[in-house]
Amino acid sequence: MDYVVEVDQVTVRYQELVALEEVTLKVVHSEFVALIGPNGSGKTTLIKAILGVVRPTAGTVRLFGKPVPDLDGEWKRVGYVPQVAQIDHRFPLRVFDVVLMGRYGRVGLIRRPGKHDREAARRALDRVGMSDLAQRPIGRLSGGQRQRVLVARALAAEPDLLLLDEPTTGVDVGTTEGLFDLLEGLHREGITILVVSHDIGIVAQHVDQLVCINRRLVAHGRPEEVLSGEVLECMYGPHASLVGHGDIPHIVVPHHRSREG
Ligand SMILES: Nc1ncnc2c1ncn2[C@@H]1O[C@H](COP(=O)(O)OP(=O)(O)OP(=O)(O)O)[C@@H](O)[C@H]1O
Ligand SMILES: [Mg+2]
Repeated sequence: MDYVVEVDQVTVRYQELVALEEVTLKVVHSEFVALIGPNGSGKTTLIKAILGVVRPTAGTVRLFGKPVPDLDGEWKRVGYVPQVAQIDHRFPLRVFDVVLMGRYGRVGLIRRPGKHDREAARRALDRVGMSDLAQRPIGRLSGGQRQRVLVARALAAEPDLLLLDEPTTGVDVGTTEGLFDLLEGLHREGITILVVSHDIGIVAQHVDQLVCINRRLVAHGRPEEVLSGEVLECMYGPHASLVGHGDIPHIVVPHHRSREG
C-alpha cells in the first residue's frame, strides 16, 4: 500500500492530560478522509502530531514513508489550514499576499517570490473562486471568504497532502458544501486530504473514509459503516442520534446530557 500518513500507536500527553492514546491510523495515497470527534477529543492534537508540531509521548508518525523527525524537503508537499487563522486581520495585507505566503513553506520567508510563485498563488485563488477579490484587504472579507483564502494559501504550495482543521467553522451550510465540493475536486486530482470537521452530515456525503476519535480511535471506515448508533454513543453519549434534515443528517445530543453543555 502507498501510505501518505502512518500514525502508529501514538500517545500524546500534555503534562498529566492524555490527549491521544495509542492511536493508529493510515491514510492511503489520494484518499479523502474526515476526522470527527467531540470537542477536546484530540483532533487538533493528531493533526499537530502529523505536522511534527507536537511530539508524541509514544509511537511514531510517518509521512510519505519517512519518520516525521527526518522530513526535510517533503514539508513542501504538505498544505495546512489551521483551526484558528493566525493572521492578524488588522494587518494591511491584501488577499493575494496572504495566498502568496503559502509559497514560503514552513520555514518562513527565505527568498522573494518569483513569477512561478505568483502564478501558483493566482491559480489557487482562482480555484477557490476568489480571484475577483485578490486586491481586497484581508480584514474586509466575510468569514466564509476568509476561510477560502486560507484554503487557497494552502493550495498555493501545490501540496500532495492537504490537512485542514475545521475549515468550515462559523460558515453557513452553502459555503460548507461549496468547500467540500472543492475538496472533492482536489481529491479527484490525486491530492490526499485529511479534514477535521463537525459537519458530519455534509462530510459523510463527500469523503471515502471517516475516522472517529475520542482520545482513542473509536472507528475508521466508510461513512455508512462508521455512523452506527454504537459509534455515535461512544463519541457523543448514549442519547446522541443522527437525524435527517432535508438531505443533510445532523448529530443531535440532548442539551442537558451533552458533555460540553
Ligand atoms: N498545548 C496544550 N497544553 C495542554 N493541554 C492541551 C494543549 N492543547 C490541547 N490540550 C488539551 O488536549 C485535549 C485535546 O485537545 P485538542 O485541541 O486536540 O481537541 P480537539 O478535538 O481539536 O477539540 P475541538 O473540537 O474543540 O477543536 C483537550 O483536553 C485540550 O484541552
Ligand atoms: Mg481542534
